[in-house]
Amino acid sequence: MQTTNDERSGRALGIDIGGTGMKAAIVDLATGDLLSDRFRIDTPHPARPEAMADVVVELVRHLEWEGSVGCAFPAVVRNGHVESAANIDKSWLDVDADALFTDALGVEVHMINDADAAGLAEVRYGVAAGRKGVVMMLTFGTGIGSGLFIDGMLVPNTELGHLELDGHDAESKAAASARKRHDWSWHHWTKKVQHYLEHVEKLFSPDLFVVGGGVSKKPEKWLDHIEIDTEIVVASMANNAGIVGAALVAP
Ligand code: BGC
Repeated sequence: MQTTNDERSGRALGIDIGGTGMKAAIVDLATGDLLSDRFRIDTPHPARPEAMADVVVELVRHLEWEGSVGCAFPAVVRNGHVESAANIDKSWLDVDADALFTDALGVEVHMINDADAAGLAEVRYGVAAGRKGVVMMLTFGTGIGSGLFIDGMLVPNTELGHLELDGHDAESKAAASARKRHDWSWHHWTKKVQHYLEHVEKLFSPDLFVVGGGVSKKPEKWLDHIEIDTEIVVASMANNAGIVGAALVAP
C-alpha cells in the first residue's frame, strides 16, 4: 500500500487559491496548526493555468517544501479536473489540475474545491470537530461555497451557491461580493442571506451550519440577525481553513 504524506511525516503543504491571492503554509496534520508562516503571492492576471502553476512553484520553493501538496480551488474539482468556472478564468475548464501542478512541481499534488477544503478543516480540527449528522459549511465571499458533511464524511462539489433563488443564481444576491457590488446596506444584504439560508435549510435539514469567508469576522453586522431553526456557528479556522483543508488532501 502506498504510504501517504500524513503517515511519513505528519505534515503537508496546503495552498489556498483565490481570485486575488494564492496562500501557502506547512500544516501539522495532527493539530491543524501552521508550522510555517503563511506565504502569499498575488494571483496573476489573467489567472490562466500555466501562470498559476508558476506561482504554485514559487510558493513551494519559498517554503522549501519537498513533500506532497494539496490545493484548494474555487471551482468544481472532480478527480483533479476543473469542471466549472463561475468566478475563475474560463481557460481552467477541463484542465487536469492535479497533472498540471504535479508536472510543474515534480511532487504529487491533489486539488479540491475551496469550500470542501474549508469544511474539512472545520470538521477535523475546528468548530465542527466530532459533530455527527449533517454539517453544512457555507463560505460567503466572491461567490458562495458549500461543503456538505455526513458524520464527518465529505460529499464533494455540492455547489449550493448556485441554487436558484427568486429566479437568480443565489450567489449573485447573497455572496459577500453582492453587498458591495449593489452597494446594499448590511440590513438589506442580511435579508437576502436569511432567505438563502431558509432555502438551504428546507432542502437539507442540516444539524449544523458553519459559516466562513471574510464576513464571518463581523457576525454582529449580519449573522446575529439571522433567524433560522438550525444551529449556525462561525468558522473557527478563519483565514487558515483553506490552507489546512488543502493540506489534508495532499496525496
Ligand atoms: C464556485 C464554487 C466555490 C465558491 C466559493 C463559486 O462561485 O462555483 O466552486 O466553492 O464560488 O469560492
